[in-house]
Amino acid sequence: MKPTVRKPILAGNWKLNKTIREAIELVTLLNRQIRDFQHVDVVVCPPFTALAEVSEVLMQSEIRLGAQNVYWEDKGAFTGEVSAPMLKDAGCAYVIVGHSERRQFFHETHETVNKRTRAALRHGLTPIVCAGETLAEREASRTFQVVKEQIEGGLRGFTQEEARKLVLAYEPVWAIGTGKVATPEQAQEVHAYLRKELQALFGAETAESLRIQYGGSVKADNIAELMRQPDIDGALVGGASLDAQSFADIVRNAALVAVK
Ligand code: PGA
Repeated sequence: MKPTVRKPILAGNWKLNKTIREAIELVTLLNRQIRDFQHVDVVVCPPFTALAEVSEVLMQSEIRLGAQNVYWEDKGAFTGEVSAPMLKDAGCAYVIVGHSERRQFFHETHETVNKRTRAALRHGLTPIVCAGETLAEREASRTFQVVKEQIEGGLRGFTQEEARKLVLAYEPVWAIGTGKVATPEQAQEVHAYLRKELQALFGAETAESLRIQYGGSVKADNIAELMRQPDIDGALVGGASLDAQSFADIVRNAALVAVK
């Protein structure tokens, strides 16, 4: 049984998709379909350009807004970057940090993940900190080592109080956008390991209260069995969050497990 302190959280990571108009259309539909889900938190993470407009649509909604990245300085001569105060201003409550695509394509390191996470917390944004191994790392039996380093590095120097405000996401790189979802057992094994690691870093109470999402080819037909695992507290959804019906179905199926 999952402790009730961990309210499941479903987040849609839209990645590099949707114009402003398309984003408004999608979130308007979602807003109609996702109502009265007191048992789960729901977040959408559009691209930067659509944040402010999507925020307007979500004014009276239970759906929360998130961004896909954040820079660690508040302002200044940092061409091309977007800061935590700017995200707050655009209506964000969450921000994804250290997604594997950022690690892979944009030179994200443990240190930069740490700085971004810290900046988010400083401004009252909830960071969704991602970790996960590549296929080669899994095949070399390095999964635990890799996620341990990502978590230790990403969260180095954080107090218990700060750690309690985080959401983590375990996203095996080989499962992202591939249609190859981790089995519930594979995912649970790493989630349990991460929670043990969190316990070592921040103590049992903090570890028990932290939500760990699974991400990687989550769909309406596999979310329920993932959610039934004791240490899986929701999902970070990519492809299937780009369609209102499929994301709403994921939220609904997750909520059904959550109320049981
Ligand atoms: P996917 O992406 O659901 O398309 O596999 C998940 C993610 O990258 O967050």
